[in-house]
Amino acid sequence: MAYNVGILGATGAVGQEIIRLLHEREFPIKELKLLASARSAGKPQSFGDKTWTIEEATNESFDGLDLCIFSAGGDQSLKFAHEAAKRGCVVVDNSSAFRMDPTVPLVVPEINPEAVDSHKGILANPNCSTAISLMGLYPLHKAFGLKSFIASTYQAVSGSGAWGIVELEQQAKAWANGEAIKKDVYPHQIAFNLIPHVDKFLEDGYTKEEMKMLNEGRKIMGLKDLRVTCTCVRVPVFRAHSISISAEFEKPVTVEAARQAIKDFEGTELVDNPAKAEYPMPLDYSEVVPCGVGRIRKDCVFENGLALWVTGDQLWKGAALNAIQIAEVLHQRGRLS
Ligand code: A2P
Repeated sequence: MAYNVGILGATGAVGQEIIRLLHEREFPIKELKLLASARSAGKPQSFGDKTWTIEEATNESFDGLDLCIFSAGGDQSLKFAHEAAKRGCVVVDNSSAFRMDPTVPLVVPEINPEAVDSHKGILANPNCSTAISLMGLYPLHKAFGLKSFIASTYQAVSGSGAWGIVELEQQAKAWANGEAIKKDVYPHQIAFNLIPHVDKFLEDGYTKEEMKMLNEGRKIMGLKDLRVTCTCVRVPVFRAHSISISAEFEKPVTVEAARQAIKDFEGTELVDNPAKAEYPMPLDYSEVVPCGVGRIRKDCVFENGLALWVTGDQLWKGAALNAIQIAEVLHQRGRLS
């Protein structure tokens, strides 16, 4: 079985990784359609020895597609997802537009693959920091029962799309050349700085991004009473997010059992040898499939608590890879046709 597959937002930072990973993971594709805005229509896009022509997305673009991975932002998802589903195209959406819709499965395939079975044409891919954090937290939840956690994120500029990456590069070059630093994507200089502000502020002082960790974490792990507090920070790193977590569990914990749980979980690897200065870092987890977990220790605040550090590729596990893994589960479970 092979499918007609579309990518909405094919020219973006995530879209480019989707093209690459669909090929590298040998997803069964009959025809691939690359969609973006009118600005990109007609431009060539190559991967390996193949070249496609980018098309402007319209309602009719989704006719004949079995699957389309959306990564063009929430407005485009709201505009096109229901229209695509109506035309028989299953949508895996990277934006936050549908994540908390109770009729839309929100999926991390290593955690809740069975959720795909209930889809009604649209499935949601989680927030990048949430997906990467849960790759470290979920195996520990299975072992000890997760009650609450405190997270601080260290989020790469790739999370702001292709222009976030360009801005960090240009500011770093301008700084090195002694030139004036221009700001466009972020309200402050990101090169050689930290910005404790990701997404829009809400009335209670949290940002929308920070609340995704709570709301999406609850939905994906099926833990309606989970308590979470989170501070999201943009850092001058190109493409891998890291998260520092202190978590509280129902049952007594040991570091040994926690390390074993991480080792046994598909999609994570343990990098935890402080004596040799070994822990996961963004440069080591860029263009890498698993997320890295390390710095596991008993937490000094919580009774049954563990502190840990998780790193994963924002463009892969945080976006393109997880979306393709959802498509793979749909294919394996016969839910794409
Ligand atoms: P385009 O390159 O034509 O603007 P990123 O988040 O990396 O900036 O990528 C955003 C993606 O969403 C790009 O592929 C962009 O296409 C696409 N996009 C933005 N606006 C629209 C639109 N109105 N219709 C379709 N695609 C869009």
